[in-house]
Amino acid sequence: MDHKRVLLIVGGGIAAYKALELTRLLRKAGVAVRPVLTAAGAQFVTPLSLAALAEDKVYGDLFSLTDEAEMGHIELSRSADLVVVAPATADLMAKAAQGLAGDLASTTLLATDKPVLMAPAMNVRMWTHAATQRNFVTLKRDGVSFVGPDEGAMACGEYGPGRMAEPEAIFQAVMSALAPAPRPLVGRHAIVTAGPTVEAIDPVRMLTNRSSGKQGYAIAEALAALGAEVTLVSGPTALNAPPGVKRVQVESALEMLAASEAALPADIAVCVAAVADWRPVSAVERKMKKGRASPAPLTLVENPDILETLAKGARRPRLVIGFAAETHDVEAHAQAKLVRKGCDWIVANDVSLDGAMGGDANTVAIVKAGGIERWERMAKDEVARRLSQRIAEEIS
Ligand SMILES: Cc1cc2nc3c(=O)[nH]c(=O)nc-3n(C[C@H](O)[C@H](O)[C@H](O)COP(=O)(O)O)c2cc1C
Repeated sequence: MDHKRVLLIVGGGIAAYKALELTRLLRKAGVAVRPVLTAAGAQFVTPLSLAALAEDKVYGDLFSLTDEAEMGHIELSRSADLVVVAPATADLMAKAAQGLAGDLASTTLLATDKPVLMAPAMNVRMWTHAATQRNFVTLKRDGVSFVGPDEGAMACGEYGPGRMAEPEAIFQAVMSALAPAPRPLVGRHAIVTAGPTVEAIDPVRMLTNRSSGKQGYAIAEALAALGAEVTLVSGPTALNAPPGVKRVQVESALEMLAASEAALPADIAVCVAAVADWRPVSAVERKMKKGRASPAPLTLVENPDILETLAKGARRPRLVIGFAAETHDVEAHAQAKLVRKGCDWIVANDVSLDGAMGGDANTVAIVKAGGIERWERMAKDEVARRLSQRIAEEIS
């Protein structure tokens, strides 16, 4: 990693001491570290320690004439290959999300044209506060990468998410961000279905489910990051299309099937969508009116199975993967589904666990004809990254 340069912004949190160890690890790996220490950060670590470990001058004051003469804040923000914020305090995240530029750290974050990696660190209530979560989502949408926060005991005595990732984990994230990303899926086409389907009962009523689409969107994004051309066939969700992904928006299961088949040929199909098993026999064209009589019975008819249709079709993608969201006997149902649907892998997830449906974490098992691989509970983004990596290994 010689000649790679990191601009390290150290914010004002208890975890600032870990930035010293991060600096040491980066220097040991041959990465140049240029530190920016905020005024609050300097309450927790001294500029002297940081400068000694970084073997560079510590920048802190936006209006320091010497700094501006030597290197202006704009130049500083572009002087590295990667900007790392550790600890990323609630305050720094809020400033960056709002585009504020009242000090050197926030000005640098606004002026940089380089990738930004943040390691959030704060009290659990600060992390879970709606404002911080809003800023987190905004920053992710703006292209900022994150490592952590971890869950665990905090310096303030509370327990939960918000603890800064360990220096070794941040170091690994920095090294991957600095390394040219391998793109083993270049030239491959992947179809990913995501989100719920909506089955109309009449023009205003519908049958649907609680799927948020987060896992499917994360997989589409992760496959695209590995170089795949991705068609994301999505039911209605509140999510933005991931960068570089072609999104086809649909409502019903029939529309989702048609769009998936229209996207063929493909090398990979990952069916993550929560497709309605049944739909009303026919949606009436006018709103059903409430009368004194009991409501008309809702007659349902089975929807076609998109996973099975793709897996058993004449233009079968080489690797067909289904998701099985279950509330009980998860692995047994997944084994049966694998055989019945003729797909290669089933990613079984237990949606009875807290936060699976609509949440940001998932506990999954990869069920193949040869056996089951159980993954620990992790963020949906991480499930997506690992699964995409496995797909790449299988396909290439
Ligand atoms: C003892 C102490 C510990 C603090 N720890 C944190 C922390 O871990 N995370 C955080 O977001 N803010 C923390 N704060 C509050 C920040 O220091 C404060 O919001 C500051 O303005 C952040 O400045 P920055 O934008 O330079 O990081 C702490 C404050 C004190 C007094």
